Amino acid sequence: MAYQRLILFLGFLLFLTNPVKSQLDEELHFNGFNGVASNMSLNGVAEIEPNGMLKLTNDTLRVLGHAFYSSPIKFKNSTDGKAFSFSTAFAFTIVPEYPKLGGHGLAFIISPSKELPGSLPSQYLGILNATVVGNFSNHIFAVEFDTVQDFEFGDINDNHVGIDINSLASNKSTPAGYFTSQNSTKQSLNLKSGHVIRAWVDYDSVKNQVTVKLSPNSIKPASPILTFDVDLSPIFQDFMYVGFSASTGLLASSHYVSGWSFKMNGDAKSLSLDALPKLPGPKKTHTGVIVGVSVSALLVLILGIGLAFYIIHRIKNAEVIEAWELDIGPHRFTYQELKHATRGFRDKEVIGFGGFGKVYKGTLPNSNTQVAVKRISNESKQGLQEFVSEIASIGRLRHRNLVQLLGWCRRRGDLLLVYDFMPNGSLDKYLFENPKAILSWEQRFRIVKGVASGLLYLHEGWEQTVIHRDIKAGNVLLDSELNGRLGDFGLAKLYEHGSNPTTTRVVGTLGYLAPELTRTGKPTPSSDVFALGALLLEVVCGRRPIEAKAMPEELILVDWVWDKWRDGTILDVVDPRLGGEFDELEAVVVLKLGIMCSNNTPKARPTMRQVVRYLEGEVALPEVVLSPGAYDGRKDSKGGGEFEDYVHSYPTSSYFEKASAWSCDDADVDFEAASSSSPLSVSGRNGGSCPR
Ligand SMILES: *[C@@H]1O[C@H](CO)[C@@H](O)[C@H](O)[C@H]1NC(C)=O
Ligand SMILES: *[C@@H]1O[C@H](CO)[C@@H](O)[C@H](O)[C@H]1NC(C)=O
Ligand SMILES: *[C@@H]1O[C@H](CO)[C@@H](O)[C@H](O)[C@H]1NC(C)=O
Ligand SMILES: *[C@@H]1O[C@H](CO)[C@@H](O)[C@H](O)[C@H]1NC(C)=O
Ligand SMILES: *[C@@H]1O[C@H](CO)[C@@H](O)[C@H](O)[C@H]1NC(C)=O
Ligand SMILES: *[C@@H]1O[C@H](CO)[C@@H](O)[C@H](O)[C@H]1NC(C)=O
Ligand SMILES: *[C@@H]1O[C@H](CO)[C@@H](O)[C@H](O)[C@H]1NC(C)=O
Repeated sequence: MAYQRLILFLGFLLFLTNPVKSQLDEELHFNGFNGVASNMSLNGVAEIEPNGMLKLTNDTLRVLGHAFYSSPIKFKNSTDGKAFSFSTAFAFTIVPEYPKLGGHGLAFIISPSKELPGSLPSQYLGILNATVVGNFSNHIFAVEFDTVQDFEFGDINDNHVGIDINSLASNKSTPAGYFTSQNSTKQSLNLKSGHVIRAWVDYDSVKNQVTVKLSPNSIKPASPILTFDVDLSPIFQDFMYVGFSASTGLLASSHYVSGWSFKMNGDAKSLSLDALPKLPGPKKTHTGVIVGVSVSALLVLILGIGLAFYIIHRIKNAEVIEAWELDIGPHRFTYQELKHATRGFRDKEVIGFGGFGKVYKGTLPNSNTQVAVKRISNESKQGLQEFVSEIASIGRLRHRNLVQLLGWCRRRGDLLLVYDFMPNGSLDKYLFENPKAILSWEQRFRIVKGVASGLLYLHEGWEQTVIHRDIKAGNVLLDSELNGRLGDFGLAKLYEHGSNPTTTRVVGTLGYLAPELTRTGKPTPSSDVFALGALLLEVVCGRRPIEAKAMPEELILVDWVWDKWRDGTILDVVDPRLGGEFDELEAVVVLKLGIMCSNNTPKARPTMRQVVRYLEGEVALPEVVLSPGAYDGRKDSKGGGEFEDYVHSYPTSSYFEKASAWSCDDADVDFEAASSSSPLSVSGRNGGSCPR
């Protein structure tokens, strides 16, 4: 008996002293990661460089990197379930590909897993994905150092520190900065400066408080820049992994951690900056050339002269970059890069012809990323300059249902815009005449919801309202998963100002143009909603908003749908190519909404927020739908017989099958609505090259 008790007792003692003790004051201290590779679990593109620098990502687009301490650490008292205090200090450096644009950021994280399966790069920072974001079963605590402002997660700016619990929408965040002992004003700190930044994250389990401090040097500030009161006990599991995660997106930075210390129930040891591995400085060009013999000196001279001629030649041909162009946000590509990417703007690479110019397919030489390059010629230099200054903000618009602008380039009167390449082309190719493929109802419904959410983001999700002005099937592009993404947003503005400053051009496509636009010339969110209404009907019916060649007479889609609605035979309008396989309730919602959006009176149309709520089924549509009023462009052009020409040419898309010539179907309307009294003058945008 006594013998057995002794063994039990001894075992208990062993249990108390050994594993638990070592867990409770678990301490990590890495001045560089040399020789500790076996204690770190890396995945994604993370690696430890020969000098001991932990590189979480390089500047490849859309990658992620994780580095965790390999063994789990006990974070909670198993008796009372209370999280322990902890403290960590680390030194990181973010080196962006382009000095002013980060991509995306880095986070210190505490997680139940060291692999983080299914996590995504870009705004998800390699931590979570869209399905699980915000779910309490994630058990994730993170402190993010984020250099991109993401609107889905409500980021405050593109240089902030945030505390994230189970989500990437920070529970609390603040612009990056630090306090010094001399000055009580917060000093700002640029996370993506390429310089070493020290960070301290402490959790006090008595006060239930997390604090974050930053510093550009080795002095630990007395005051935190971020304090968040939270009891982490319900967030943590008993055992958790600690480490780092970083990601890149459409823009990229290299994310490095050069030193790290961590301590449970105590203060993390400080890192000595001198002992940390350094980043290689900027590549230095060798200045001294040792020329041994006169013969080689002569050769060098000849080469030098040749080179000088070459340089002069290059300068003559170089792009002239003007002062106003230097401060523009998104990446400025060189003309040479784009020329190379599109194989010299070869006609074979043309994948579309939009209202604004030709679209080429290209492959960026460095990253092998496929892109679409839109080449816009504009005779008005002022218009161009105004527009280019808007690129900065357009480039910052990010939403999964927008075609991302990656960068731009100007050369003389040409503007080149570089976008994500959308492998499946534009939506109209799937709807009208001989579609490439028949989209199922589920696909159509998803596209419609995606486009609506992208447009809601343009209208309300951004610091200023962005009006698309040219919503149509041809401007909805389909990504590899057939999600609908809006293209060409903001572009219409380029054409807003005609050569005569007293006129305003109305840009848009007939059938999608809200009637009030032709009178006022002033686009509004409501005129976008009108265009969306036409799109909704098209997607369900598989027909264009105006079909000039329809028998027995031209067809105005919304009138036709309204007639069927009134007659109680609304399901007759559904695209027969669906073979009757569709969800009737959903189809009715989309059709009803299409009619509501197509109302001639702007006030009668729903807002985008309402449209999205209806589509998501959050709110039921009203029982009674008002007549849209017969839409007939001719009634609105009080003085202009010219307008009639356009009623008969129907609009279509921007993207066609590779190599087929663009046709005159693409008659976007671009008429100048002169101020009030003067008659509408109408001019086809495509320079009259269309035979009529
Ligand atoms: C790394 O792990 C080994 C055993 O796996 C251990 O002996 C060593 O102390 C660890 N080093 C650090 C710095 O944690
Ligand atoms: C970035 O890292 C990945 C994986 O380690 C590698 O394949 C790629 O070539 C690197 N890219 C650059 C630009 O160094
Ligand atoms: C765990 O909680 C129990 C009960 O509150 C307490 O007696 C014990 O000291 C705690 N253990 C540690 C390691 O804090
Ligand atoms: C999202 O992440 C979870 C785990 O965190 C994973 O199980 C799931 O498969 C991921 N979802 C997607 C769509 O990748
Ligand atoms: C959260 O995740 C759990 C497990 O993965 C899942 O069962 C649950 O439905 C998710 N909750 C929400 C709101 O998505
Ligand atoms: C943190 O934010 C998430 C959502 O972003 C929320 O569900 C959670 O309650 C917040 N936690 C705390 C402690 O405020
Ligand atoms: C304190 O910092 C602010 C912001 O950087 C600066 O404008 C101010 O001059 C500083 N004051 C002193 C006394 O150094």
